[in-house]
Amino acid sequence: MKKIVVIGGTGLIGSKVVALLDERGHQTIAAAPDTGVNTITGEGLYDALDGADVVIDASNSPSLDGREAKRFFLTSGSNLLDTEKAVGVRHHVALSVVGTERLQDSGYFQAKLAQESLIAASAIPHTLVRATQFFEFLRRIADDATRGAEVRLPHALFQPMAAQDVAFALVQAALDEPTGGMIEVAGPQSYFMDELVAHVLEHDGDKRAVVSSADAPYFSVRLNEASLMPGGNARLGTTTFEKWLSSAPLPRSVPPLVTIPGARA
Ligand SMILES: NC(=O)c1ccc[n+]([C@@H]2O[C@H](COP(=O)([O-])OP(=O)(O)OC[C@H]3O[C@@H](n4cnc5c(N)ncnc54)[C@H](OP(=O)(O)O)[C@@H]3O)[C@@H](O)[C@H]2O)c1
Repeated sequence: MKKIVVIGGTGLIGSKVVALLDERGHQTIAAAPDTGVNTITGEGLYDALDGADVVIDASNSPSLDGREAKRFFLTSGSNLLDTEKAVGVRHHVALSVVGTERLQDSGYFQAKLAQESLIAASAIPHTLVRATQFFEFLRRIADDATRGAEVRLPHALFQPMAAQDVAFALVQAALDEPTGGMIEVAGPQSYFMDELVAHVLEHDGDKRAVVSSADAPYFSVRLNEASLMPGGNARLGTTTFEKWLSSAPLPRSVPPLVTIPGARA
């Protein structure tokens, strides 16, 4: 049995990681501001990490704005690594995003790369787990790309995966020895982003129309065919998109169509 602290242990991925580790009988701490552990202020951090074998960082910046995200990941990361050094943590596992270095037109992905570099340069043995987009994130992709009644997305390949499979991969990495490098994890199949998002919206009864546009950005990044794709050594999750969609709860509200005065329905 290991003592494992999950930073962001109340979030989408972190809460699933905590549940999996609890099932396996490990001593697990779900660390987040709501549970009294704050990696920015340092509140509760030393006590939570004291005696821990492994720290899994599945936290996220409360703001996706580039500058704020960078401040979050660098401050949080430094506080974590310093405390881990002080208490003798033997393995730091962190969640990042496949293709981060190819997405540097986005301030958020600059922040993720800065987080990765901080960890790679630290003295704590580490494993970086880079995941592709979560199926649970597809509706958020649609919302970010919505202009009026249209969702403008590129016809670019990606290989999204279920949050549950991301959690499995983090748990596996945490229970293995540190690799000192990067592991990629991805879904079982690749899709075109515009087509898959259209499929989700149709499933939801969401009337927004997906418009494929070569120059439409993905969160301010112009994608090419390879931008979001994992490499050949990626570990693949087993949950298919169809299986996930059939069991995923519908969103609480479908965004209303923006109607243009005077336009005919
Ligand atoms: N979205 C994607 O498709 C995707 C793909 C690959 C990788 N990722 C990465 O996955 C990671 C996790 O994403 P997620 O969607 O699971 O995040 P999430 O659901 O937003 O959860 C974020 C967690 O971080 C915690 N947190 C925030 N500020 C904190 C602080 N100061 N101290 C301690 N904990 C803090 C939050 O706690 P509170 O709720 O109490 O604030 C929450 O538990 C991110 O780093 C992201 O870059 C995302």
